[in-house]
Amino acid sequence: MARSAILNVMVEAAMKAGRGLTRDFGEVENLQVSVKGPGDFVSAADRKAEETIAGYLRKARPEYSMLLEESGAIKGPDSQHRWIVDPLDGTNNFLHSNPMFAISIGLETQGVMAAGVIYNPVTDELFTAERGQGAYLHNRRLRVAGRRDLVQCLLCCGIPGLGRKHHEKFLTRQRYVMAEAGGIRATGSAALSLAYIAAGRFDGYWESRLSPWNIAAGSLIVREAGGFVSDFEDRDNMFKSGDIVAGNEQIHPQLLALVNRA
Ligand code: IPD
Ligand code: CA
Repeated sequence: MARSAILNVMVEAAMKAGRGLTRDFGEVENLQVSVKGPGDFVSAADRKAEETIAGYLRKARPEYSMLLEESGAIKGPDSQHRWIVDPLDGTNNFLHSNPMFAISIGLETQGVMAAGVIYNPVTDELFTAERGQGAYLHNRRLRVAGRRDLVQCLLCCGIPGLGRKHHEKFLTRQRYVMAEAGGIRATGSAALSLAYIAAGRFDGYWESRLSPWNIAAGSLIVREAGGFVSDFEDRDNMFKSGDIVAGNEQIHPQLLALVNRA
């Protein structure tokens, strides 16, 4: 599989930041036993990873705009190209020494996702895609799972944490989906949930109130693996609405209908 020069830059950035996060993850394991916990340390690790990634991307394409989770929107001279970066997706997992987290780097060109990288440095799984070129786990081409009936499906959702205001709505949706689906899991990382959809490890995924950096790379990776992604209105408006449903051609509409029943 041949990667374009720009995808190589994204992969290098993710791997370099991943080495730092892996080191910090080891330290987080030690900090679990302290009374204060690793909170401040994790915030610093998150910011460090973002600086590493932004440094690589800026060096390669100084004119591109950026949307970085920690530093916000940075307008470059070229507003047609935008990096969308989550340096650590699955922060709460990381904080608890749970290795389900990832770096997510997306490149948007004229409002459309053009390339995406999701990297879990602990499992060393690298998911990549370029528009029209397919999705890959390292060098292996990915394809979404082929199941057609929800009853056979293993689905994935995002569970709103403490302080989020949509617990009731989530529970209502969950009840509808549980009544139809074979099983439901939650990874705690939107980026990894989407990568796993692309790899056929989950058949469908839904979550609400996400941010563009959580889903930018993943939405492209799913589509390039033959999957379908939309918001709850079946539109390509996930970055604005924050809502997402993903799955194969058969499961996506079924899950969409259940999510909207609530
Ligand atoms: C979070 C993760 C999680 C999702 C949260 C996100 P973060 O991102 O993607 O899966 O449920 O809504 O905020 O904070 O770990 O980058
Ligand atoms: Ca994050």
